[in-house]
Amino acid sequence: MTRSNDTIEVLNYSAGTLTYLDQTCLPSEVRYRVARTPDELVDALRRLAIRGAPLIGVAAAYGIASAARNASRMDLHAFRVYMLEVCDRIGGARPTAVNLGWAVGICRELVLRCSDPSACASALEETARRIHEDDARRCAAIGEQGAELIPPSAGIITYCNTGALATGGEGTALGVILAAHRRGKRIHVFVCETRPHLQGSRLTMWELTRRGIPATLITDGTAAVVMREGRADLVITGADRIAQNGDTANKIGTYALAVAAHHHGIPFYIAAPVSSIDFQATSGGEIPIEIRPASDITEFGGVRIAPEGVDAFAPAFDTTPAALIHAVITERGIIRPPYDETLRGLRS
Ligand code: MRU
Repeated sequence: MTRSNDTIEVLNYSAGTLTYLDQTCLPSEVRYRVARTPDELVDALRRLAIRGAPLIGVAAAYGIASAARNASRMDLHAFRVYMLEVCDRIGGARPTAVNLGWAVGICRELVLRCSDPSACASALEETARRIHEDDARRCAAIGEQGAELIPPSAGIITYCNTGALATGGEGTALGVILAAHRRGKRIHVFVCETRPHLQGSRLTMWELTRRGIPATLITDGTAAVVMREGRADLVITGADRIAQNGDTANKIGTYALAVAAHHHGIPFYIAAPVSSIDFQATSGGEIPIEIRPASDITEFGGVRIAPEGVDAFAPAFDTTPAALIHAVITERGIIRPPYDETLRGLRS
C-alpha cells in the first residue's frame, strides 16, 4: 500500500478495482476516486490525478491487472487481443516517464505468455503488487544512499513532488530529505512551487508539513536568489527518464535550476530508481518530451490568465545535460560521471 504517511493511501487495489487519491484536489481536499476502466485510468494519468514517474508505473501495472481481472471470463484469444490493446492504451498515457513503458512491458510479457485468462489475471495482480513493493524498497535504499551526501546542517532546494505521492514508497529526492531528517541532520528545505501545476506548493509542502520538516515555499524564480544569498547547499530533484549518458528529463524548470546551481557552484543531484534509466536512449535528445495543452499555462484553475488566442508552448518536462549533474543517487549506489560508463554498470 502506498501511503503519504501512516494514514493516507495513494493507491489501493482490490479484486479488479483501483482506488486512487486524486492529487489534483490536494491540499484542500483528500478525495478518492475509482478507475473502473483502462480509459478512466488513462484520464487520471493525463490530468495528473495520479502522477510522478514511479507511481505512474505502479498505477499502470494495477490498471492492467484490473482490466485482466474484469475480462477473465473471455476466451483466451479475445482476452489476449483485448489485453494487448489495454497495454498499448495505458502505456501511451504519457510519453516521458520511462517507468510507465517499463511496467507495461513487464505486464505485456505476461499477457503474451498467457494460457488461461484467470491465471493471467492473478499473475498480473501479483506482478503489480511486486512492482509496488519493489518501488517502496528502492525508495528506502535511495533515501539511505542519498542521506550520506547531505551535510550535518544544510539548506536544500527541491523541485516538483518526489515523495510518497509520486512513488510506491517514501519518495526519491524527498526520500533522501526524509532519511537525512531522520538521521538528525539539521536541514531546511526550499520548495519551488513548480509552475504550472504547482506540485511543489500543493504536494511537496503538504508532505513536508505533515512530517514536520522545516520548509519554505518559494516561487520558481526565487531559487537563484536563495542560492546567491548562500542559503542553499545543494539541489536535489527526481527524474522521469535518465539517458545512458546521464542527461536527465524531469519537470519543466529543472534545467533552469541546474544552470543556476552551476553558476553558484552548488551541487545538483538527481535521485531516481534504476527503473528510471532508459538504457535504449543514448542521450537526452532521444527522450520524448510531453507537450501539454496551451490551457495548462493560459488558464489557472479554470480561469483565463492570458489573452484569448495567444501562442503558448507548454512542455511538461525538460532535459538537464549530464555535465550539470554532480551525481545520480540510485538504490544501487551513488553514480558519478563519466555516466556513459558508470550508468551502464547498472544495466544488469
Ligand atoms: O508531471 P508529473 O507531476 O508527473 O511530473 C513529476 C516529476 O517531474 C517528478 O519530478 C518525477 O516524476 C520524479 S517523481 C519521484
